[in-house]
Order: sequence, then structure tokens, then C-alpha cells
Amino acid sequence: MSKISIIGAGNVGATCAYTLLKNNVADIALIDVVEGLAKGKSLDMMQAGAIEGYNNRINGGTDYDLAEGSDIVIITAGLARQPGMSRSDLLGKNAEILKSVLANITNTAPDAIVLVVTNPADAMAQLAYTITEYNPNRILGMSGVLDSARYKYFISQELGVPMASVDGMVIGAHGDSMLPVVSQTKVDGKPLAELLNRDKIGEIINKTKFGGAEIVSYLKTGSAFYAPGAAAASMAGAILNDKKEILPCSVYAQGQYGVTGIYIGLPARLGKGGVEEILEVPLSTDETKAFEQSVASAKALLAELTELFVNFTDYKDLSQ
Ligand code: NAI
Ligand code: 2OP
Repeated sequence: MSKISIIGAGNVGATCAYTLLKNNVADIALIDVVEGLAKGKSLDMMQAGAIEGYNNRINGGTDYDLAEGSDIVIITAGLARQPGMSRSDLLGKNAEILKSVLANITNTAPDAIVLVVTNPADAMAQLAYTITEYNPNRILGMSGVLDSARYKYFISQELGVPMASVDGMVIGAHGDSMLPVVSQTKVDGKPLAELLNRDKIGEIINKTKFGGAEIVSYLKTGSAFYAPGAAAASMAGAILNDKKEILPCSVYAQGQYGVTGIYIGLPARLGKGGVEEILEVPLSTDETKAFEQSVASAKALLAELTELFVNFTDYKDLSQ
């Protein structure tokens, strides 16, 4: 039986666990630093199985021994955004949390593929890669599946079509510089640019970029978790079930669009080996420029992370 460990039993972690159980993907270990939280939620989810009809097990607690034998570890431990807080504000705190989580999981689940959700996701995936020194096909971040879902939702609302009619993808960093690839977006096979004017498309791009912040502004005490939890679960499912599905994820670029050695959102084929292939989609000239800007902003964040880490670790330039 396959096993997925989720570190962080908060909103995203618990939602992801429940989605995985309902989809019969794997047994789950749910781990949180707060005593009783993961245990209580796990017991609740086990009891929901009698209603929902799943048989996979979920065990929760504070002990990392629960993660032993995991095929995938999903890291959602960390602080979530508060109103007025950017993803990068979370950088220092979450880097410390990630570091302690990684020290544990590299011990108890040394063969697992690591899926980083904690924000800022690209920088945290880069940090995980740097700390673990795993092959980068085993470390990936959750970003584009969520951002693309928002993009598709806003398009479907504007055009009054089912979300499944929309074929589109968001690449680049999981932040304000993300890039919905309009030139490749189709609705029932028709290019988006033939269905909506530039202004409307511009509005949809903005709504997508600030989709996370909009939810924070309503929730006030936290950030989105249903779509993020579902996004992480779908990536884990694609890996465990060896689907070879192409999903936009934060991956270690190796020459795509001339970018090397940095975690950034790109379409990736996910299967048993983790990130089995990184692909490129054709970009217009403007989109190429926007992608380059997004890479620059991801690098700037890494430079900040390097500054922070100089004080208490010997990690050098994380962007190299
Ligand atoms: P939350 O506050 O509901 O849950 C976080 C959990 O992490 C808490 O239960 C906390 O006790 C736990 N935690 C903190 N330090 C820990 C440690 N050292 N070991 C184990 N557990 C620890 O937050 P939420 O909403 O679940 O978000 C979690 C993270 O995911 C945040 O950083 C958030 O920004 C990020 N996120 C990323 C998204 C993406 O697209 N990549 C989307 C949504 C959220
Ligand atoms: C989101 O996009 C907070 O990154 C999180 O909802």
C-alpha cells in the first residue's frame, strides 16, 4: 500500500489529507508540531470513512516515526498569509520551519518524493533541494496547479462555460509575477483571444494573480485551503498512480527558456519518478519577457533567503 505523509495538519494539510482519502490514493500520516491536532483530525477523518466509503487509513500525531516508509511527503507546515502580508514576508519564518521538518523527514522517509506547499513555494522548494541534496526530480513545489485552476475558473465565469471547457496554464513564480499563458489558452478548442478582448483578458490575468490575496482579504485570519489542498492532492495522485500527467509545478529548471538552477513554475510530467520531464510551451514575445521578469523576481527572493540564512547556516548562494 502506498503511503503519503503530510507535515502540517492545518487548513491546507488537513484538506489535502481528506481529498487524498476520498480519492482512495494512499494511506496517510498526518504530522503537526501542535500536540493533539493531527491525532484529532485523523481520528475524525477515519470516522468519516464509514460515511464516505474509503478504507485507507490515516494516522496522526507529533512523532515523525509515523512518516516511515512514505512514498511522498507533502510539506504544508508553516505560517499562512495574513491580510497585508505578502508571500515573501513569510520567507524567514517558514525557512526555519522547513529546515526543521526536512531534518526529520530525511531521517524517517529518506526515499520519499518531497512536495513543498509552504510559501513562498518556489523558494521553499529551492531550499528543500539545497538542504537535502536530493536529485531535483524528487523535490517539487505546488504552485501552477492552483494558479491555473483560478485562471480557468475566472475564464469560465466570464464566458459562462464549464471549467472543463477551458484549457490553460499558469507558469512562472507563485507570486504576483506569475504568468497565465494567454497565447496557448483555449476554450472548447478556440483561442481565448478570439473570445475576449484585451481588457477583459487583462482583468482575468489580474484576478488570477491576486486570487490568493482576495481570499485572504475575506478570511482575514488565514489563506485559501480548499483549492490548495486539492491541488497538492492531485499532484501526489499523479505521482503515485504514475499518471505521466503534465501539470504546472515549481520545478528545478534545467535550460528551459534559457533558465537553469532555479525553482520556477513550468509544465512538468509527473509519474512514479517524480518530475519525469520538464516541458516548454510556446510563448509570445511579451510572454517571454514576462516569464523572464518572473524568474528575476524568484531570484530576488532567493537572494533575500540567502541573506537570512547566512546568519545561522552555511548555505551559500541558493540561486546557484
Ligand atoms: P495553517 O496555519 O492552517 O497550518 C499550518 C500548520 O503548520 C499548523 O497546524 C502548524 O501547527 C503547523 N506547523 C508549524 N510549524 C510546524 C513544524 N515545525 N512542524 C510541523 N507542523 C508545523 O496554514 P495553512 O493555511 O495550512 O497553510 C500552510 C502553508 O501553506 C502556509 O505557508 C501557506 O502560505 C502555504 N500555502 C501555499 C500555497 C501554494 O500555492 N503553494 C497555497 C496555500 C497555502
Ligand atoms: C494562495 O495563493 C496563499 O499562496 C496562497 O492562496
